[in-house]
Amino acid sequence: MDKKEIIEKTKEFVKEKLSSDFSGHDWWHSYRVWRNAVFVAKEESKMQKVDLFIVELAALLHDVDDWKLHNGDLNVGANTAKTFLSKFDVDEKVLNEIEQIILTMEFMGKNQEIKPDSFEGKIVQDADRLDAMGAIEFARGFMFAGNKHLKMYDPDIKPNPNLTKEEFKNYMRPNNTQINHFQEKAMYLKNLMNTTTARKIAEKRHKFMEQFLDEFFIEWDGLDLA
Ligand code: ADP
Ligand code: NI
Repeated sequence: MDKKEIIEKTKEFVKEKLSSDFSGHDWWHSYRVWRNAVFVAKEESKMQKVDLFIVELAALLHDVDDWKLHNGDLNVGANTAKTFLSKFDVDEKVLNEIEQIILTMEFMGKNQEIKPDSFEGKIVQDADRLDAMGAIEFARGFMFAGNKHLKMYDPDIKPNPNLTKEEFKNYMRPNNTQINHFQEKAMYLKNLMNTTTARKIAEKRHKFMEQFLDEFFIEWDGLDLA
């Protein structure tokens, strides 16, 4: 089977696996991350060598078993991805690389930033984070909040810029609200991008989020009631 066919099989697998997800990690999240990743990889490859096969597979498979749905365990997803890919004639080196990317790409709070070692991993991390910004992030985030019964917003609960990894992972903590979560993750992502290509896109998405949040607080307090 050639690389193109393996990618097609991977898409089918991810589509099937995520068909009943309503927490913001449906197939279309993986699809958008894949598309973002291909775009970033193509731009960056004008300056530096990139293994597009690794980028595409890692992007497609990065959320097959998200840690939030598996008691905070990142290994479940990495293992699912590896087990699936080992059915094909894929180098052991590529399998390990993809496993490493899945284990090191997640945001766990701004003071606990980790980055994949490889350039391919850095691209996939950027691609995933672009989908955790902008209009899409608000849509995904409110869907997540509805799915998990989190509060949309509570003016008495302020965002915490110094969440520990444990607090960040525990999204059911009593003081978690979705609007605060945007301020505790999405609003930091612009400055954490690895590539110049993603940073440019992130800046545009960041501006949109600022406008959305400004408007949200204006309407919340009725400051626009004439
Ligand atoms: P990604 O797959 O892009 O890395 P996440 O897995 O962090 O994104 O989150 C998926 C969606 O769930 C996001 O849109 C985000 O807003 C929401 N979400 C994730 N973690 C939390 C949390 N601790 N509290 C509230 N919402 C969360
Ligand atoms: Ni993701």
